[in-house]
Amino acid sequence: MASKESSVTALQDSVDLAFEGKNIRLPVVRGTEDEVAVDIAKLRDTTGLITLDNGYGNTGSCQSAITFIDGDKGILRYRGYDIAELAEKSNYLEVAWLLIHGELPTAAQAAELRNSVTRHTMLHEDFRRFFDALPKQAHPMPVCAAAISTLSTFYGEKETEAEIQDGIVRLLAKMPTIAACAYKHSIGQPFMYPRNDLDYCSNFLRMMFATPCEDYVADPVVARALDLLLILHADHEQNCSTSTVRLVGSSKAPLFACIAAGITALWGPLHGGANQQVIEMLDDIAREGGNVEKFVARAKDKTSGARLMGFGHRVYKNYDPRASILKKSCTEVLRKVGGGKGETARLLDIAMRLEDVALHDEYFISHKLYPNVDFYSGVIYKALEIPSNMFTVMFAMGRLSGWIAQWREMRRDPTFRIGRPRQVYTGPALRAYVPLSKRG
Ligand code: CMC
Repeated sequence: MASKESSVTALQDSVDLAFEGKNIRLPVVRGTEDEVAVDIAKLRDTTGLITLDNGYGNTGSCQSAITFIDGDKGILRYRGYDIAELAEKSNYLEVAWLLIHGELPTAAQAAELRNSVTRHTMLHEDFRRFFDALPKQAHPMPVCAAAISTLSTFYGEKETEAEIQDGIVRLLAKMPTIAACAYKHSIGQPFMYPRNDLDYCSNFLRMMFATPCEDYVADPVVARALDLLLILHADHEQNCSTSTVRLVGSSKAPLFACIAAGITALWGPLHGGANQQVIEMLDDIAREGGNVEKFVARAKDKTSGARLMGFGHRVYKNYDPRASILKKSCTEVLRKVGGGKGETARLLDIAMRLEDVALHDEYFISHKLYPNVDFYSGVIYKALEIPSNMFTVMFAMGRLSGWIAQWREMRRDPTFRIGRPRQVYTGPALRAYVPLSKRG
């Protein structure tokens, strides 16, 4: 469309595009919330053009009925339900069902899900040898990715509906066990078996913090705070890791392998890995005397290579509704679990001052950079005594249900095709091979 010969006219339900003498009418697709998209499926065949969209900021990769985000208004809904209402009234397993199946579960479905997830939490005993093979200092994220991928070697990968349902239950059930084992492995403590009388989050916390010598009973406030975090992380439409799950899944790779790919994508510091970076940044600020202005100045200096971690979002340009919920919950959790004093309280204080300075700073205002979900989640995890290298694993535990829902929706889409983007080639044109003796 850079050509002088091209022109674009927007009509109500289509866009007319003319390029080098070829004309095409492109249909406009409207979502239920009036989001509009130009369907370019016939663009290349008709005009020879492809689209170029670095970072996919303008590219709709699919039609999806799972999650709705309005970044300008700060709206996030799962299957039509507002995130704030789900955060207040629901629980993680119910939200997982909602995302995967499209409706809130009936009482019977909720009980069945709880029961089947609870009864699949144990890992095959041979998994011990898998963990034994890994170095102690391994970050728990690649350990979890590898372990989830390894599930494919234990269970069938036939794509019957029954096998898919089993796979979904196994993933939801075994992810907390794998996460806790990854942590126990890193600190050299024995793995704790899951317990069927505990709820999802209390069971996970016990597997993290109990030892064979001393049991651990999760404080209900802590278990509820963790459940809330899982709900807030459960889905976020076509973000980097979810798009990865869909793209890998589009080759018809099995579910476990696609989820492992999602975990790997989530690990990066610009995505889920930001929550660990936030707490490390707050720690650095605290160590250097609490001077937040200095960090803000550094984040604005493009030559420093530093960013204010936990700030900014590709979609949210006013506020991240998940961050607003977490900011409120942060103070409550700290008060209830006694983190209102000491190191965690100091980090929360620094976080609030940092937020205040950044929100009044011309650079952050003009760039529309606001705290995102990761800004406060780290402080809560810290108050819950989750070690910082496990923060992104917590994010993965929550996002798991969204990845499953998106994978399933993609596989059932009647317009399903393998994902295969195009490119604009910028390398050398055809040239003759130079024999080694003549290469200087
Ligand atoms: N601190 C300082 N400057 C920033 C920041 C930041 N955190 N984020 C973006 N900018 C600047 C960036 O330098 C650029 O400036 P300019 O236009 O003057 O060159 C402008 O804002 C746009 O940045 P971008 O990188 O093009 O924006 P993006 O939409 O590609 O990136 C982001 C979004 C989240 C990767 C980015 O804001 C970032 O790196 N934030 C810090 C990492 C972080 O907190 N990630 C967690 C995201 S929320 C959890 C999740 O869903 O993954």
